[in-house]
Amino acid sequence: MSALVAYFSAEGNTKKIAEEFAKDIGADIYEIVPEIPYSMADINWKNPLSRCNKEWITKKEVPVSGIVEGFNDYDTVYLGFPVWYNCQPLVIDSFCKKHDFRGKKVHVFATAGGSTIGSSEKKIKSLVKGAISVDSILVRSVSDLKNRYSI
Ligand SMILES: Cc1cc2nc3c(=O)[nH]c(=O)nc-3n(C[C@H](O)[C@H](O)[C@H](O)COP(=O)(O)O)c2cc1C
Repeated sequence: MSALVAYFSAEGNTKKIAEEFAKDIGADIYEIVPEIPYSMADINWKNPLSRCNKEWITKKEVPVSGIVEGFNDYDTVYLGFPVWYNCQPLVIDSFCKKHDFRGKKVHVFATAGGSTIGSSEKKIKSLVKGAISVDSILVRSVSDLKNRYSI
């Protein structure tokens, strides 16, 4: 059994941490990508008409592209993303629904611009049905993750 680091990142902050962490712990890594990737204009939350604002307001499903092959082989999943609107981005919901988390430990990590991790942990708990445990941490660097899991 082994660990997987699965992450979504629109601007690169979470990606950098996920890559460093996966390398440090010798885990496999998987980038969560929406079926329609976000452009910079799409994630301009200052524009009321941007894609991300419209999706969030309507809680539109954001389908994820692809699937993790051999997901059943992992006993631990580190799930990383940026905090969007004090929560996990909608594409994370799609990713969770598409995979079977029964029997797995889920360690959520998120980067943010200044807020807390918000309601992400609670929401993700309801999405990863059958997981053994779910915990979460807001991170600024890979050291935060390594300290948390004593690596
Ligand atoms: C659509 C959108 C919504 C965001 N909402 C929040 C928020 O609620 N709280 C916060 O602290 N940062 C927020 N941010 C900032 C990101 O969480 C932060 O820049 C993060 O590190 C970006 O990670 P990434 O580079 O992996 O995409 C938001 C950014 C975007 C694009």
